[in-house]
Amino acid sequence: MAAKARTTHHSLFSLLGVLLLVPIVTLGGGADGGVVGSPSRCPRIPSMTAQQACSDVSGTQHMLELCLRTLRRGVPVPVPVTRHAAVAVRGALDAYAATVAAATSLLDGGAVPADDERAAFGNCMVGYGSARVAMARVADDLRLVAAGGGGGCDDDRAAELKAGYTAGLRGMDGCTRGMLDYPASPLYARNLADRNMTLLAALLCSLVP
Ligand SMILES: *[C@@H]1O[C@H](CO)[C@@H](O)[C@H](O)[C@H]1NC(C)=O
Repeated sequence: MAAKARTTHHSLFSLLGVLLLVPIVTLGGGADGGVVGSPSRCPRIPSMTAQQACSDVSGTQHMLELCLRTLRRGVPVPVPVTRHAAVAVRGALDAYAATVAAATSLLDGGAVPADDERAAFGNCMVGYGSARVAMARVADDLRLVAAGGGGGCDDDRAAELKAGYTAGLRGMDGCTRGMLDYPASPLYARNLADRNMTLLAALLCSLVP
């Protein structure tokens, strides 16, 4: 009887040990980027100056200027590319908020009397809503990557980042499509600028390994 109790106790203890150890081993593997001697599962985040990052990702003079303007507040020393990407993502989120506020005041002020154009505005608000959610997720992912470990070097992280900024671009494009009939609208112009800002954020995110 006593022997059986001892065995049960021992088994429970082993089970508890296993349950406690599994997460520790998992976290340990994530935090230090893998066992010494094996290839690191956590890619090293490269550091660059804003100037380097901007000339790496910009295909046009306009994009280069937008990039430098966006990252200018940073110090002129190399910083992890996650930092540059995060600044641009923050810039995109701020731009969405300003555009949604501007569109709302145009609608509320009676500046958009035609039903069709009001519908296009409504369509834009849907696109901006999904872009905001997607880019907020990108910002969270960048924070995890920058912190390293804690799941930061999940294999899916890069794919998740990409899915996030792709959804952000899709939200902007959804608005553009509906506004093509209203090129004179201030919302049309704002949306093209916000689309560029989203693209800049996406390009800087693509520097994150
Ligand atoms: C967006 O970027 C493109 C190319 O980089 C540029 O030609 C265009 O003028 C920009 N549009 C706005 C509204 O900033």
